[in-house]
Amino acid sequence: MRLTYQSALHLSLPDIAELHTNAYGGGWVSKPDQLADIFRVQSVDLKLSLVAYDGRRPIGLALIGRRRTHGWLYDFGVNRSYRGQGVATRLLQTSTREAAKAGVRDIELDVWEKRDDAIRLYQRAGFQHVRNYLMFHATGAQLDLSANDLPPDGQATSDLVETIIPWYAAAESEPQPAWDRRLPSLLTYSDARVMLLVDPQGPAACIHYAARPASGHDPNGIRTLFVGLRPGSGVAQVRALFFAAARDAFGDVGSTTFRVALEPEHSTLAKLLVDVGMNIAATALDMRLRMT
Ligand SMILES: CC(C)(COP(=O)(O)OP(=O)(O)OC[C@H]1O[C@@H](n2cnc3c(N)ncnc32)[C@H](O)[C@@H]1OP(=O)(O)O)[C@@H](O)C(=O)NCCC(=O)NCCS
Repeated sequence: MRLTYQSALHLSLPDIAELHTNAYGGGWVSKPDQLADIFRVQSVDLKLSLVAYDGRRPIGLALIGRRRTHGWLYDFGVNRSYRGQGVATRLLQTSTREAAKAGVRDIELDVWEKRDDAIRLYQRAGFQHVRNYLMFHATGAQLDLSANDLPPDGQATSDLVETIIPWYAAAESEPQPAWDRRLPSLLTYSDARVMLLVDPQGPAACIHYAARPASGHDPNGIRTLFVGLRPGSGVAQVRALFFAAARDAFGDVGSTTFRVALEPEHSTLAKLLVDVGMNIAATALDMRLRMT
């Protein structure tokens, strides 16, 4: 099959959403307004992102983010009826070659550990598995969170998103966060909230999170995107932050679901979340391609 490629910049957002929907299949629908949010938060560069065509028909999509010389494969798919013919392999090769020409020096991606097919595809393009990310999950009831978790001589207050900047800077010795947990993303999530925990020694910890109200079968959810901890802070402070975040967002804590996704496996927070009693729901691979 003769494939041609064009920058995604030449498609409208609804057209990209339609192609994204078709490339994933399975009834899932990509929405233009959500895509616009994702493009902003994840620094997706539409000029660098490529669409593969069979004639005039768009059949594959590589959505690529960029920050200086660092690249990010946000999403990648090929229409179901074109799979198994090497389209993805060729689109990925072309995308990485074009990114390198545009000055990108490395590209990263994350992929669920059970996606053997996608992992083989990325390995064929030269991506290497460099570390794991952990996905944590628990309900407030499972963690037995209550007002007793708030320090008797402290307080938890909501704060501006910018509050996290010095906490983020102080965490520099920690493993690098996932692409959409880095500062440019944290400062641009439209639904981000921050809760600060202060005790008699001063600010003890903060949490940056998104609160998702219950919808359909999904209960109220707290999606943690960053946690800052003063040296010496630990399980007690994480519990207090979880409790305060859920109480602030929903009033009710027990039925709230807490999720922490894409946490680097050797981070201080990953160890604390295990100690807090959260379950590891899934593991993803952090894969990187270095261009020379
Ligand atoms: C993952 C995905 C992108 C693969 O697309 P694809 O076009 O089928 O991929 P390819 O055809 O290049 O490779 C698929 C298989 O066909 C084989 N193949 C490659 N060229 C071929 C050719 N010319 N003829 C026949 N088979 C070929 C490949 O070796 C590969 O085999 P493997 O699974 O044993 O490794 C596609 O399944 C998809 O879009 N899935 C939904 C979106 C998704 O999950 N994206 C990834 C998110 S992590």
